[in-house]
Amino acid sequence: MRVAVCISGRGSNLKALLDALDAGAPAQVVLVLSDRPDAGGLALAAERGIATRVLADSADPTAWLAALDGASVQLVVLAGFLRLVPAPVVERYRGRIINVHPALLPAFGGAGMYGSRVHRAVLASGARESGATVHLVDEAYDRGPILAQARVPVEPGDTPDRLAARVLEAEHRLLPAVVLAAAEAGRPVPLSSPLPLEPTLVKESACRAP
Ligand code: GAR
Repeated sequence: MRVAVCISGRGSNLKALLDALDAGAPAQVVLVLSDRPDAGGLALAAERGIATRVLADSADPTAWLAALDGASVQLVVLAGFLRLVPAPVVERYRGRIINVHPALLPAFGGAGMYGSRVHRAVLASGARESGATVHLVDEAYDRGPILAQARVPVEPGDTPDRLAARVLEAEHRLLPAVVLAAAEAGRPVPLSSPLPLEPTLVKESACRAP
């Protein structure tokens, strides 16, 4: 499956995905798109020999469609991409665009909910857990059907940065799992089994058990 990854920043999810897709994997990242020329993930993509494209105007569908169609892309992965995908692109690739979000949607999503804002809102709400969500993309931010989630605890004394780091670890396991499942199925599908907990989280839960 030919995959395009869209990024706006450092690209740690892109790295996790590339690390998970070895030579024999059923999915291959063939293109990295960014709305920002200074996105850190672009350098990573170039180092790994992957074609990159910076969108001068991320609201203009023409450049999107030229890049995606030109690379015969079959799956589009938003991995820390902070802009809305133009409606004609959603329409053409409907059911084949997925997004990773750093909270348990439908809570803590929508316009303006990205990065540390999400984790601040989770902490302010008093929620006992957070996590990562991968969902299909439609015309609105963070709204499409959910394919998979990975939960992490909110710990006493958490700061937005500490919670973000815990959630990011979960994202780095969840996103490659969903992409690999999509490649096996020929299209994005819900994950059939929940992800195993990180060894550190298992240890922490075991400590808390009565
Ligand atoms: C990730 O936590 C991702 O879930 C989030 O941006 C971060 C990007 O990190 N995306 C959103 O908040 C979108 N609503 P990365 O560039 O290191 O992958």
